[in-house]
Amino acid sequence: MHVFTVWAALAAVAHSVAVIRPSPLDDDSTIQLPLVIWHGLGDDFERDGMQELASLAESVNPDTYVHIIRLADTGSGDRQATFFGNVTEQIETVCEQLAAEPILSSAPAINALGFSQGGQFLRGYIERCNNPPVHNLVTFGSQHNGISEFQSCALGDWLCHGAEALLRSGRWTTFAQSHVVPAQYFRDPTELDAYLENSNFLADINNEREVKNKTYKKHLESLNLFAMFMFDEDTVAIPKESALFAEVNATDGTVTPLQERKIYKEDWLGLKKLDNQGKLQFKSAPGQHMHLSEGLLKKTLKEYFGPIENPESQPQLPRLVAQPGL
Ligand SMILES: *[C@@H]1O[C@H](CO)[C@@H](O)[C@H](O)[C@H]1NC(C)=O
Ligand SMILES: *[C@@H]1O[C@H](CO)[C@@H](O)[C@H](O)[C@H]1NC(C)=O
Ligand SMILES: *[C@@H]1O[C@H](CO)[C@@H](O)[C@H](O)[C@H]1NC(C)=O
Repeated sequence: MHVFTVWAALAAVAHSVAVIRPSPLDDDSTIQLPLVIWHGLGDDFERDGMQELASLAESVNPDTYVHIIRLADTGSGDRQATFFGNVTEQIETVCEQLAAEPILSSAPAINALGFSQGGQFLRGYIERCNNPPVHNLVTFGSQHNGISEFQSCALGDWLCHGAEALLRSGRWTTFAQSHVVPAQYFRDPTELDAYLENSNFLADINNEREVKNKTYKKHLESLNLFAMFMFDEDTVAIPKESALFAEVNATDGTVTPLQERKIYKEDWLGLKKLDNQGKLQFKSAPGQHMHLSEGLLKKTLKEYFGPIENPESQPQLPRLVAQPGL
């Protein structure tokens, strides 16, 4: 019962404002793009937090249609899919889900907000599908350069412990790479060869293999803005600097920022191009992993997901001013 009531309520709220229409303030010169959210590990689409976020997005930017990505019809199934599954298939499912949602697919573009692993998965959506296309992408505490340790699970969280055990026992096995979600973005710089050979998700999506996928680059370059937030005191996603696409040497703690890495210098993903155009942002958020304050959320919604210029509006003709003497 509970499962469906919450989702139905959320869907009802979303649908009641589900219109891509010109802002009432300003004839048809601006529009409000829909917002797609992909939550993190251990979370699910029907959590209170997700529902509150959807309402917040609607109150900060009126007329925002919010779509929370889900990989199952129930909260528990959706949560399970954050630990177990083949990420390639999960992204395919999301590509179909977004393309089949009429409000999203009829919008000129969508905005995207990714929490933790949801951030690199949304990047995967953009690189592989981007239909409907993403305007602004914002990620919080995401593992763009992978994790080199698995997060410690809460006591009694058996799904998490199960995933952790599988990850430890054989992260590069085909089994783990097709069934354990965090294994598919595991990236330890001391095991780079095994990673390049076996990684089912991250090595591909980061274009780290010999043959680069030009579509990935083209799609990512088409973003209007890509803002990455790192949590300053993050001890859950290791290393935390992965949130900003940096690499960390675990032996001596050296952090190599994105701009000094090959992925940037040879521009495998278009990140250098975005950066040169001022479209790539490296931001920090205070506190522990995903300890997001409402203040920062509001600021983010306002700054990145507010109304934009309507691409279809006609340029206003200059008013004819009566000239004295004519
Ligand atoms: C690149 O990615 C696109 C989108 O996923 C895919 O259709 C294409 O086959 C890929 N190309 C190569 C060379 O792998
Ligand atoms: C994950 O799924 C894709 C698409 O079905 C498949 O091609 C790939 O082999 C799977 N990955 C692994 C590691 O089994
Ligand atoms: C990490 O740092 C150590 C000590 O400076 C160095 O020996 C090692 O080669 C570095 N590892 C990588 C993967 O660069």
